[in-house]
Amino acid sequence: MTKRKTSKGKGSGRGSNSWKKQNGPRKEFVKVEFTRHIPVLLQSVLEQLDLKKGQIFVDCNLGDGGHSEELAKLMDGDITIAGFDLDQDAIARAKANFEMAFKDLQKKPNIIFINDNFRNLTKALDEVGVSKADAILYDLGLSSYELEESGRGFSFKKDEPLIMTFSNKRGDESEGEMSDAVVGAGEDGTDSVQFTAEDIINDWDEENIRTIIESYGEDKFAWKIAKGIVKARELERITSTSKLAEIIKQSVPSFARFGKTHPATKTFQALRIAINDELNALNETLPQAIEKLNAGGRLVVISYHSLEDRIVKNFFKKFEEDEEGKILTKRPIVPTEDETDINPRARSAKMRVFQKK
Ligand SMILES: C[S@@+](CC[C@H](N)C(=O)[O-])C[C@H]1O[C@@H](n2cnc3c(N)ncnc32)[C@H](O)[C@@H]1O
Repeated sequence: MTKRKTSKGKGSGRGSNSWKKQNGPRKEFVKVEFTRHIPVLLQSVLEQLDLKKGQIFVDCNLGDGGHSEELAKLMDGDITIAGFDLDQDAIARAKANFEMAFKDLQKKPNIIFINDNFRNLTKALDEVGVSKADAILYDLGLSSYELEESGRGFSFKKDEPLIMTFSNKRGDESEGEMSDAVVGAGEDGTDSVQFTAEDIINDWDEENIRTIIESYGEDKFAWKIAKGIVKARELERITSTSKLAEIIKQSVPSFARFGKTHPATKTFQALRIAINDELNALNETLPQAIEKLNAGGRLVVISYHSLEDRIVKNFFKKFEEDEEGKILTKRPIVPTEDETDINPRARSAKMRVFQKK
């Protein structure tokens, strides 16, 4: 995955003058590098949201805040953004990114951070006083940070504990300079994690593991993989991503071990979908989104696999049948080759747009 490296001076912002006095000019500054998620289909998203200054935007997958940041700049800061993310790290990272990005804007965007599941869209927006929105965006799945740096076991290329939850209720609210409040499920445990990948792999029976891999990973070797997992765990508990990836590799036929795609790819996707109950969350949120939109407002959804895209497509058809408005994308918008060259993660993206009447 290609990533955009952003560097941020440690101690920049508050107190950086006193740092300079004590330590000399900035060239000696210690730089901390971190991965910034590259917003997918950015130009198309900005066009399709079709927002005007002063309007209200709901970003259902804030992540590193890439789409919201560019939108706020385009609106010269004259916009209200309600941004959801289940992951407290994402909220903290978006806050930090916005602080840097908006420091030169004359008008600062009004940003409401919501640390909650977008399946609670109506309730969460009502609680922060957002009764209607002019555009709503979903950019589903996980961020580059979650995949590569969160340490939660999303990637089979790493040796990490088998967690795979978007939500990470650690209560580590960031100390940003922006005054925006973070609201959401937070400490009361609502939407906190019910089980992890380690639980599924070690405690579920073979049939259920197979069903998950089959239905959410669409892997034709699901039964072999489930069998391999159950056999391996008789010897010892499977607790790491690298161990699981190796078991999967050994379980599939030899011709499937060395192909272009790692044999664990689909199982890892399946586990993530199951643990975060991703398809049910999408099914629950889309009807709420259409209700929340003002007349003429746009609903924009970027999905990354066929199971999600099918749900979006079917909902949009139903919305049209119910005379809620019209589908603006007869075929989904997909990235150009130039975009996927720079950002291979965008390869599987499909964007669909609906306009409320
Ligand atoms: C693809 S990333 C979004 C990237 C973002 N658009 C950007 O440009 O930086 C998806 C984000 O959605 C969050 N997420 C996934 N499912 C969610 C849900 N049901 N409710 C709230 N946040 C969710 C993930 O934690 C992740 O941070």
